Amino acid sequence: MLLDKVYRERGADFRNYKKASLARRVAKRLALTGSASIGDYCSALDSDASEYDRLLPILTIKVSEFFREPEVFYAVKRSLGALPEADAGVRAWCCGCASGDEPYSLAILRAEGLGAPALRRSAVFATDVDAEAVDRARIAEYREDALRNVPEALMNKHFFMSSNVFYKVNYTIRNLVRFGVLDIVKGHPISRVHLLFCRNLFIYFNRHLQEAAFKKLDYALRPGGLLVLGKAEQVPMRWAARYYAVGDNGLNVFRKGI
Ligand SMILES: C[S@@+](CC[C@H](N)C(=O)[O-])C[C@H]1O[C@@H](n2cnc3c(N)ncnc32)[C@H](O)[C@@H]1O
Repeated sequence: MLLDKVYRERGADFRNYKKASLARRVAKRLALTGSASIGDYCSALDSDASEYDRLLPILTIKVSEFFREPEVFYAVKRSLGALPEADAGVRAWCCGCASGDEPYSLAILRAEGLGAPALRRSAVFATDVDAEAVDRARIAEYREDALRNVPEALMNKHFFMSSNVFYKVNYTIRNLVRFGVLDIVKGHPISRVHLLFCRNLFIYFNRHLQEAAFKKLDYALRPGGLLVLGKAEQVPMRWAARYYAVGDNGLNVFRKGI
């Protein structure tokens, strides 16, 4: 009832997200608004529409960090040279980019791995459903704990201290990433990408939604391109025969068949 209302009133479609994780998040808002039931909470939304603005951002989980699971980035780095037509520039897409840690990590990886001419023709597209997260990503300021996996040499090269507590990604790397708001459920995917990160997003979707979203990822990725899913995620059965694991199985780095 609540998810239908949110969809009707705000167009945000959480109806096919896994219920357990949503329930924990909604329960917090119920407690904070003193609502005894979902019905009460719906009334609270009716009497104060600004409650939607407090509810919507917490319905998605935005935990991330730079080089999250570094071994995944090493596996991707080793495979970058074998991407189709990589010499002409690599198009990467980070779908569900949260506050930017992942696409900037990818941009750093590529700045380190590609020559200047290929880099000039390359881009990292980074999208998320949450406009606030995308705004934070554009600002590109991070606390130390988000940077614990960044080797010191890369820290010195690609970040500077912008205040007592924040490290900011330097301009060269920021300039490689193009951010946008995109709901993968409703929106059109980026096209013709060589490298696609979509990590820790499908875990929140039910099977129906995973399949609908995967169809878009499959459309987006060029044959021979690399797909990276979160470690707890899987290529849906319908597409499994077309995606080959690269490196260790558990890394969830896949090459799309040609
Ligand atoms: C846990 S974060 C993952 C961040 C990053 N990919 C990582 O693994 O570190 C999941 C992100 O998916 C985003 N998300 C949730 N539903 C989405 C949707 N329908 N379309 C696009 N992004 C979505 C959330 O806003 C959140 O930023």
